[in-house]
Amino acid sequence: MILNINYRVVKMILSSLLREGTSEVHRNIEQSSFLKDLFRGKVSKDTYLKYLESFFYLYNELEYSVNLKLSDKNIEKLYFPELHRTKALYLDLIYFGGASFHPGPPTEKTIRYIDHIKKITEKETYKIISHLYVRYLGDLSGGQILGGIIRKIFSLEKGFGDSFYSFPIGDVDHFKNTYRARLDSLDLEDFQKLELLEEAKLAFSYNGMMLSELDIFASSPK
Ligand code: HEM
Repeated sequence: MILNINYRVVKMILSSLLREGTSEVHRNIEQSSFLKDLFRGKVSKDTYLKYLESFFYLYNELEYSVNLKLSDKNIEKLYFPELHRTKALYLDLIYFGGASFHPGPPTEKTIRYIDHIKKITEKETYKIISHLYVRYLGDLSGGQILGGIIRKIFSLEKGFGDSFYSFPIGDVDHFKNTYRARLDSLDLEDFQKLELLEEAKLAFSYNGMMLSELDIFASSPK
């Protein structure tokens, strides 16, 4: 008897792979004591300024890398300048730090993350994709909840000190679906998608290190 086996090539859908593959590290980072404190409204202005400063440096590097590598077809497909946060973070730094505010030097963990971004930009450009995914989809998800809490803690008026959380993109859920569709349209081999999953886990780990460092800053005498 001849068995008629229908062999199907199961394609890996990048957005699902990343969401499902990082669900455990996502749960872990949600439990970090810095974020727990933030969500409970327990954050001083000094610590929040440090938080903004660290992420200002990170986005500055990430967005510099994206601009540098726009000739890469996949990076170009994920080019959404309306997501870029460097300027927004700078505005928030000025709001909280005052007009003459100058960011201090980046912290040790921020430097580690930035150095990693520099390294992959040169040698494995496509891995930037994972960092864009982790930061921007994170900002458009839990980040939006966080924005509401920050507005409440510091009694912010819309447009003043909350730029980090404000995206000129219209409906956020619709935009997130567009972003996921764009991820799924990238020209990548399956092995690269698996590498991107590992890189996204690494991105969570770098983010976690930055948050732990902020936790130490928050509890240190000023
Ligand atoms: C307590 C803190 C956090 C909460 C409550 C939270 C909450 C959420 C929620 C509710 C979603 C699903 C949104 C949806 O339905 O589309 C989400 C997605 C996401 N979050 Fe978080 N999050 C937190 C922290 C973080 C952090 C620190 C990062 C990264 C550094 C992050 C990265 C992401 C990413 C990349 C997604 C998109 C998953 C996907 O749809 O592929 N989150 N988060």
